[in-house]
Amino acid sequence: MITTLRGMKDIMPNDSALYEYIVKTCEDVARNYGFSLIKTPHLEQTTLFKRSVGESSDIVGKEMYQFIDKGDNDVCLRPEGTAGVVRAFIESKQDRAGGIYRYFYHGSMFRYERPQKGRLREFHQFGVESFGVASVLEDASVILMLAEIFNRLNIRYKLKINSLSDSQSMPKFRESLLNFLSLHENEICEDCKRRKELNPIRVLDCKEKKCQEIYQNAPVMIESLSDEAAAEFKKLQEILTANSINYEIDTKLVRGLDYYCKTAFEFVSDEIGSQSAIAGGGRYDRLVEYLGGKASYGVGFAMGIERIMEILKEHKSERNGAYLCALDSQNLDFIFGLGIKLRKNFKIEISYEAKKIAKHMQVADNKNCEIFLCVGENEHKNGEVFYKNLIDKTEKNIKINELEKELKI
Ligand code: HAM
Repeated sequence: MITTLRGMKDIMPNDSALYEYIVKTCEDVARNYGFSLIKTPHLEQTTLFKRSVGESSDIVGKEMYQFIDKGDNDVCLRPEGTAGVVRAFIESKQDRAGGIYRYFYHGSMFRYERPQKGRLREFHQFGVESFGVASVLEDASVILMLAEIFNRLNIRYKLKINSLSDSQSMPKFRESLLNFLSLHENEICEDCKRRKELNPIRVLDCKEKKCQEIYQNAPVMIESLSDEAAAEFKKLQEILTANSINYEIDTKLVRGLDYYCKTAFEFVSDEIGSQSAIAGGGRYDRLVEYLGGKASYGVGFAMGIERIMEILKEHKSERNGAYLCALDSQNLDFIFGLGIKLRKNFKIEISYEAKKIAKHMQVADNKNCEIFLCVGENEHKNGEVFYKNLIDKTEKNIKINELEKELKI
């Protein structure tokens, strides 16, 4: 039998509805924030990722699906979306035109990592990239956008933020970090020795226990920020607080890609295993120029769709079945008949009592039902049922004859 490659997965119809639901939710929020769809190729020149994601990153150093094609070109399956979007931005001369451009994208990314739960070799991201805004308000906006997406999907998260300094303050920090690393040259791991040469700040998020212990005493980046970067980092925190977004400052958060400056952030979940990062992003003001374009501000994020699917499947398995009820006694016989019919195919909890919707909702919630179905006077008159998904909280009225189809989804 020919099977999928290791670390690659089919998304079969019973999961594809969830995939589409996640992408649709992200798209709705992104469009509300003024972002539009961009699609870039899966295959790009290898140089693009070497120059943007960076040679010190594990992605470029170890994980690229890189090969020479039949025309002798050195090409690579995209390991992430930002580099391709930046290339398209420059190639379409939008950097020269000036102005503000906001894009979103979703699709496959490829990294030759060791597969495990939540870590695939082909996975899907939903991401956004915004060009042309210098203000930290845009950094705050993309974080608020992600928070809104997770709220709509009913996903709990922890937000970690850091500031990776700017061109003014980075050289000073780099120097003090290099001095520190020289003192520990013989104790750090081989990867950190490589990172020290290529991009020293990347040592800070090394996963080796021994390195982590050493870096406890390393210089702290946010303590050496320029006045400008420090003020922006403070402003970002104020906006998050004003919008009731909890966050923690993680001074070791440097992200696995080389292109960031100033704001860096990561959303993590305690509902999945060790691969707990569900989204990450930050500002990359030098990248456009670095890839040959006219210097332009950039900030964005990407979210791992499979990791979100895992969490939502867990939620779903906790809740199941539908709760069917009536608001007034005239409809009790009707919902009883409807329930008997639906029970041929679905798990239905019928309430024999008419009462207020909030009371019914409470019972449905206590019984851990997934769907709430209710008939009141108006619904009965229109041949409809009020439908609420108790996992994602979406609600609508559905025609009685379309109810079975909806429950199947
Ligand atoms: P990243 O942190 O490398 O950032 O990836 C973003 C998200 O993709 C991660 O938080 C995770 O949910 C998911 N992910 C990464 N690797 C895997 C994997 N092997 N299997 C499953 N899911 C995975 C970026 O890619 C940047 N381009 C984000 C960005 C956009 N920064 C600015 N703009």
